[in-house]
Amino acid sequence: MKVCIIGGGFIGSTIAKALEEMEEIETVFVLDKYEDRVKKLAEEYKKVSPTPDLASVVEKVDLVIESATQAAVKEYAPVALESGKDLMVLSVGAFVDQNFWTRCKELAKENDCRIYIPSGAICGTDGLHAASVGRIDEVILISYKPPSALKDVEYLKKKKIDLDGIERAKVVFDGHAEDAVRYFPRNINVAATISLTGKGFEKTRIRIVADPNIKRNIHRLIVKGEFGEIECNARNLPSRKNPRTSVLAALSAIATVKKIVGNVWVGA
Ligand SMILES: NC(=O)c1ccc[n+]([C@@H]2O[C@H](COP(=O)([O-])OP(=O)(O)OC[C@H]3O[C@@H](n4cnc5c(N)ncnc54)[C@H](O)[C@@H]3O)[C@@H](O)[C@H]2O)c1
Repeated sequence: MKVCIIGGGFIGSTIAKALEEMEEIETVFVLDKYEDRVKKLAEEYKKVSPTPDLASVVEKVDLVIESATQAAVKEYAPVALESGKDLMVLSVGAFVDQNFWTRCKELAKENDCRIYIPSGAICGTDGLHAASVGRIDEVILISYKPPSALKDVEYLKKKKIDLDGIERAKVVFDGHAEDAVRYFPRNINVAATISLTGKGFEKTRIRIVADPNIKRNIHRLIVKGEFGEIECNARNLPSRKNPRTSVLAALSAIATVKKIVGNVWVGA
């Protein structure tokens, strides 16, 4: 199988390392805004080849993995899907744009390919997925983050919320997933993932708490419905390379590739 990774940062480089060790994977093209990142990966891993864009390799690959930004999803998802290539998306927040989400789903159907959205930094999407077959009454996600993980968020600057030197946990957002994803585009992709799995962006409630007393990104998912209740906690270690991103997010992408190339899906 040949793969193209868009974005060679923390998640992209972690995936590239894992793919190097998977015998099913033949070639890994990598595309990044910064050529030196791709060059470094190509020096480190034999299977990695730099590519300046997706268009020049899309016909050669079987799977395109986006691990860059929401803007990159907008730019490259149609290119992959129009060419009939399977697509994995990490910057899931891009799908808050309902027209874009519908277009991507239609392109996947027309061109007989698939869109994969890994569980990312969250636990419980399997149960939520099963529960969504029946009636769901409530989906709430409470995310606790160290203030460093919320650095440079424009929404917080606009609201004049200063997290420097806070001593106690502070709720910085409480509202619908749609707004959470728009206001925290690099911090709360999991809100998009659970919205797409469960009740949609408008009916999924998100609370974001900046907590100076934690070092992990904690996601608490609560689902209530006719099936009963689910409560899941993920206490994620942040990546050293990018404190906004949890290590589990990269692992979930690798686990999804293993599912794709394997013949057995457990917990699907
Ligand atoms: N689904 C989840 O649960 C989850 C969890 C964590 C992070 N994420 C998202 O995954 C994405 C990657 O995270 P990361 O920690 O690896 O980020 P990162 O900043 O470490 O790496 C992103 C890389 O993408 C590159 N890039 C940006 N725009 C590009 C473009 N248009 N074309 C090519 N390359 C581009 C950057 O130069 C950078 O090297 C982010 O959008 C992040 O918000 C999702």
